[in-house]
Amino acid sequence: MSKSFAEAIERAAYQNQSRLVLALDVKGPNAIERANRILEETSSYICCVKVNKHLILPAGLEGLKEIVKRAHSLGLPAIADCKVCDIGSTNLVEVSYYFDIGFDAITAMPFPGWIDGLRDVFHLAKEGGKGVLMIVLMSHKGASEFFETIVFDEEYGVFDKLYRVFARRAVKWNADGVIVGATRPDAIRQVKNIVEDKPIFSPGVVVQGGAVEEALKAGASYVIVGRVICESANPADKARELRDITRQFSQ
Ligand code: XMP
Repeated sequence: MSKSFAEAIERAAYQNQSRLVLALDVKGPNAIERANRILEETSSYICCVKVNKHLILPAGLEGLKEIVKRAHSLGLPAIADCKVCDIGSTNLVEVSYYFDIGFDAITAMPFPGWIDGLRDVFHLAKEGGKGVLMIVLMSHKGASEFFETIVFDEEYGVFDKLYRVFARRAVKWNADGVIVGATRPDAIRQVKNIVEDKPIFSPGVVVQGGAVEEALKAGASYVIVGRVICESANPADKARELRDITRQFSQ
């Protein structure tokens, strides 16, 4: 896929009239084979595929490369949801592996900061037209424990919730998108005001309690959906049903 991540996902969203990112979270026996099948079956209802530890660990680099190749052949970009969160030199090793096997974007935790943290990751991504999606607020209940604590943002001289500080950093660092849980539509609205036209990716629908339509109405550009599709008796039907909800938000 020669297009940048932003171009590739927009193109697939337009072609498939879909704002669904499939979290290909398949576990158990024959996970890789089943994941490939689910990807094929749902490919015309989604705009991107995201791979997490469920496949990263058992598939290894060779297996992942095949999944990415398959996604690209179906016209879909692929995200490695690695949530990179270490010192810069280690982060660079990790993301280089993902980019080298063809992933179009990675996810990153903001906690390492810029200098000797995420700076080199952003530079590497920009050079290669790859995307960095920054976690701003997670979707699960425990996320409030830290992401919603009030901290002093030295750059702006204000006390604010940590996730709002992260949203401002995502703008400053020129992230290609931010991740905000669908379980908190009000936070999506707030983050949208901060990041403006930067895409918001929103996981946490259905199984975690968020609603596809609410997340998109609040300002999310894409919803990330995993178990409700992958664990369905008919993943294609479920993907089509959810895609149809997102359709009114597609251009
Ligand atoms: P489900 O099954 O809940 O899967 O639809 C969601 C997928 O997204 C990941 N996930 C998150 N990723 N920030 C993230 O970066 C989050 O707040 C978040 N919540 C869920 C999850 O690991 C799964 O792959």
